[in-house]
Parts: sequence; C-alpha cells; structure tokens
Amino acid sequence: MTYDIALVPGDGIGPAVVDAALPVLSAAADAHGFDVETTRHDWGTERYLSAGAMMPDDGLDRLADSDAILLGSVGHPEVPDHVTLNGLLLPIRKGFDQTICKRPAVLFDGVRSPLRGYEGGDIDILVFRENTEGEYADVGGREHLGFENEVAVQSAVYTRRSTERIVRAAFEAASERAGHLTNVTKSNAQAHGMVFWDDVVAEVSEEYPDVTVERLLVDAASMDLIRRPDEFDVIVCSNLFGDILTDVGAIVTGSMGLAPSANVDPGRDHPSMFEPVHGSAFDIVGEGVANPLATVLSGSLMFEHLGEEAAASALWDAVAAQLADEGAPRTPDLGGESTTEAVAADLRERL
Ligand code: NAD
Ligand code: IPM
Ligand code: MN
Repeated sequence: MTYDIALVPGDGIGPAVVDAALPVLSAAADAHGFDVETTRHDWGTERYLSAGAMMPDDGLDRLADSDAILLGSVGHPEVPDHVTLNGLLLPIRKGFDQTICKRPAVLFDGVRSPLRGYEGGDIDILVFRENTEGEYADVGGREHLGFENEVAVQSAVYTRRSTERIVRAAFEAASERAGHLTNVTKSNAQAHGMVFWDDVVAEVSEEYPDVTVERLLVDAASMDLIRRPDEFDVIVCSNLFGDILTDVGAIVTGSMGLAPSANVDPGRDHPSMFEPVHGSAFDIVGEGVANPLATVLSGSLMFEHLGEEAAASALWDAVAAQLADEGAPRTPDLGGESTTEAVAADLRERL
C-alpha cells in the first residue's frame, strides 16, 4: 500500500518540523509494511511576496487527490496574518469540509507541566473544535473607513450540519473514553449561536445516554483547564474557543511543541489535514531547535485516520518512550539543549 501525502511546510519553523518529522513517519511506515509518497508544495509567504498569492489559484485541486495533507505552519512577520492565513491554511480547512478538529492534550511521562503536582498520565484531554465556521466565518465587513462613524461587523455562523457533526464526533469519542463530555460555550452572552449550539448538544445527547455532559462557559473553562486539568476528558467547542483552549491545553501539558492536531472531513470526500497546533514561532526560527514532536504526533493522527493503527501507535509510543527517557535528546522548550534534528534522529532509531 502506498499513500500519497501532500506536504505544505509553509512558513517559519514549519519547514524545519515537517522536514524533521517526515523521515520519522517513513520509518514507522517501513516497519509496518506500507509506503509514504510525498508531493511537496512550497506555498506560503515567500510565494506571496514573490508571486502575489500564498498558493496557486488551483491549489485545492492540486491537493484534492492526495490521501492526506501534512502542514507545518503559516504566518510571517512581514505580511498581516489575516492575509496569509486566509490565503492558505483556512481555505483548506473550509474548502475541504474539515469540520472536525481533534486536538489531544496529554501530559507524557517525563514532561514537566508548569502546574504544580501533575505527573505524566494525570492530564489526558481530547478537544473537539468545530473547524470551518463559527467565529471564523468570513462574514462581515467594514464601512466608513477612517471616519468617526467607522463600523466593523464580524458575524459568527453556526450551521446545523457542522454543529451536529462536531458534537456527534465528540459524543462518539466520549462514549469510547470515560463517558464524560464538557460542552464549552458562551451562552450567557451570545444568545443566538451559542444557545443554538447548546440545543444541538442536548438533542445529540439523547443518542448517548451513557455520556454525562458538563456545561462550562468559556471563561470558567479557561480557568478550570489550569485549576483542574485532570478532571477533563473530552471537550467540545466552537472554532475560536477551541483555538484558545488548545493553546492552554498545550502549555499545561508541557509545551506548544508537543501538541498535535487533526483536521478531518467526516464525509471523507476530501483529504484531511494534519498539523501541529503551534504556529511559525518567529522567536526561534532558524535556530534549529524547534520541537518536531507535535508534527510527529500529528503524523500519528494521520496514520490513524488512514487506518494504519499499528504505525500510528508505534509513532505515539516512540514519542512517549523518548520523553520518558531522561537521557534522550530534548529541545529547549522541554528544558533540553538538543536540536530538532537530534530529537528526530533519536526517534528514527527507536522505530
Ligand atoms: P506560535 O505557536 O508560533 O508560538 C508561541 C510560542 O510557542 C513561542 O514562544 C514559540 O517559540 C513557542 N513554540 C511554538 N512551536 C514550538 C515548537 N515546535 N518548538 C518550540 N517552541 C515552540 O504562536 P504565535 O507566536 O502566536 O504565532 C506566530 C505566527 O504563526 C503568527 O503568524 C500566527 O498567525 C501563526 N500561527 C499559525 C498556525 C498554523 O499555521 N497552524 C498556528 C498558530 C499560529
Ligand atoms: C491554530 C491557529 C490558527 C487557528 C490560526 C493561525 C488561523 O492558531 O491552528 O490553532 O486559529 O485556527
Ligand atoms: Mn491556535
């Protein structure tokens, strides 16, 4: 079996983490009897600066036949983020109907949480973030620019189709895990979209009598992810809330450099996309010390999605074993002094 993986390394540390992770993924594939063929798309802000667009006009068509997409990061200090992200990352999530964003936040053995008293295994959260609409809908506009009566409107959009899809995916995961789902909204202030969301959660919950549902407002949820992260299991939330909560989840479990992400089209009409939660990390770009593990773990989620469970587990377990091994290389975000390449080379050996 050969999988065609489209690579979009992107900007900042994106190319470094994708280049480091790829041989690790290939090693896992080799060991489990399948091949990974890659098609690399050097799209991103360099292309924008030279050719005027982040990707070609037919960019999505070029990705459409791949089995999955592995993305690094998008965003560059010289171009406004809303231009770069709406030119490359967000159109893929939206255009390919990748409604389900799955983001695990796991405290591995050997990793220190900035929170006191948590050991490896104490925190194990799976966030389901709606990924194509909500607060990220490109609906709105600006009028009377520069005048005193200037107005900006940014509307949030919640469709029944996508809301049901993300909520059902979260219930499904919760019923396979500990049977506990936390629904995070802001229904006290946003009486249309968020109350609709709560209604959908209530409807879908009837199909899952084994799952208990806890409701939290997003402000309290942000606090509780720091105060009592061990009590969360599965979280379901809208696009923006999921974005914010998964950075909190990443840092309470040790580092942005460890947090993976899957953007899944539940209909499987389009390729799904796998990427670290982190961004371009301008503060460390070019230093050779970006942590590649978030990308490797995203590769594990990718193999799982492709049905290659054994390779997915092998990757996940190799990362866990490396982190648990005090003598193993680790990048500075985890308190070490090793390079991206040293961490990846150690993982290749473990595989
Ligand atoms: P960031 O995730 O790039 O960085 C936040 C902090 O985490 C920085 O201190 C950085 O050094 C650290 N960090 C991130 N990844 C790391 C890694 N692999 N190893 C070690 N340390 C790591 O967030 P930001 O600074 O808010 O964003 C920078 C740019 O990236 C912006 O343009 C933003 O829009 C973009 N961004 C893109 C994506 C994406 O493409 N998926 C995600 C987030 C941010
Ligand atoms: C993420 C990122 C993106 C998001 C940005 C870069 C648009 O922060 O994947 O978490 O908000 O989804
Ligand atoms: Mn984010």
